[in-house]
Amino acid sequence: MKKKVGLVGWRGMVGSVLLKRMIKKKDFNKFISIFFSTSEVGKKNPFNFSYSNKILKDAYNIEELKELDIIITCQGSAYTNKIYPLLRFSGWSGYWIDAASDLRMKKDSLIILDPINKKNIINSINNGIKTFVGGNCTVSLMMLALGGLFKNNLIEWISFSTYQAASGGGSGYILELLKQMKYLNKSLLNNLKNLESILNVEKILTKITKNDSFPTNFSIVPLIINLIPWIDSSLKNGQSKEEWKMESETNKILCRSNTNKILIDGTCVRVNSLRCHSQSFLIKLKKNINLNEIEKIISNHNKWVRIIPNNKEFSMKKLTPLSVTGTLNIPIGRIRKLSLGPKYLSAFSIGDQLLWGAAEPLRRMLKFLI
Ligand code: HSE
Repeated sequence: MKKKVGLVGWRGMVGSVLLKRMIKKKDFNKFISIFFSTSEVGKKNPFNFSYSNKILKDAYNIEELKELDIIITCQGSAYTNKIYPLLRFSGWSGYWIDAASDLRMKKDSLIILDPINKKNIINSINNGIKTFVGGNCTVSLMMLALGGLFKNNLIEWISFSTYQAASGGGSGYILELLKQMKYLNKSLLNNLKNLESILNVEKILTKITKNDSFPTNFSIVPLIINLIPWIDSSLKNGQSKEEWKMESETNKILCRSNTNKILIDGTCVRVNSLRCHSQSFLIKLKKNINLNEIEKIISNHNKWVRIIPNNKEFSMKKLTPLSVTGTLNIPIGRIRKLSLGPKYLSAFSIGDQLLWGAAEPLRRMLKFLI
């Protein structure tokens, strides 16, 4: 019998990317899909799949949700925090697949990234785990890029700097970045006669971004012609929560306890690319291995990772957010030994924050359950 799968939050940015992938992969033939809504209950379901509901159901209706075998939600934290406990308390024992971060670190939930932890996913299903949560995007993208090194237990520690896209802050954040561009552009057009001197341009742009009316509701400070070296909330130890996730989620995915965890720390930075996160790594290896061997280990790990030769031309053409956006590719380049010593490796990697960083692990989890 076909499983009943409820979809919540399919209209948002991650949800739309997820749906697009599911349509492309013809996933909707494999189960009965029930579309829920938090705001348009009773309206027509815009999708006309053979096994689907015609009218949108209420995403807050516990009785309706209880009928489902699987719920997949990209609705966000507020929804998860409100509905998940009620649903579990009601006795529902179906599978919950979530894009939001809240349930990730819970004991009875698994962070899903099957190219890394497929065995654990299958074991967890067999052992009755019912809650599966997508990892933080920077974590998932780092793990896919460095999967071979993790798998072969070659990493002693990692220090990172990230260059995270506006999409990580949500669709409002991207929209605001676009508004910031438009705002600057308008002022540039109004000041054409002053644009001959580059110092004049710089002065004009800086002044505009500091104007009170410059749109910064989401980014708080301008993101355009700027960067923001803080993502997510603050922890007492001086880390941002985004930085904290790198070590804690990675080690949870790798089933490593506090006593044998891989140390990972660094600085997370928001930059003004649109939907690809980039990361620079300084890795201390456990032993001295030559670069050819390292590249082989990395590229043999999964079919999405791509080694980019460490030269100017390839780095500029194939190792940029623009060259990756909208694809599942995980290029990793700038691979070289650092002058610090033969066990010190540097690398730079990129991934689409909405695909492998958010939607794709959820889609693949659903496939395991179906
Ligand atoms: N926390 C990420 C960011 C979003 O702000 O870029 C993806 O999990």
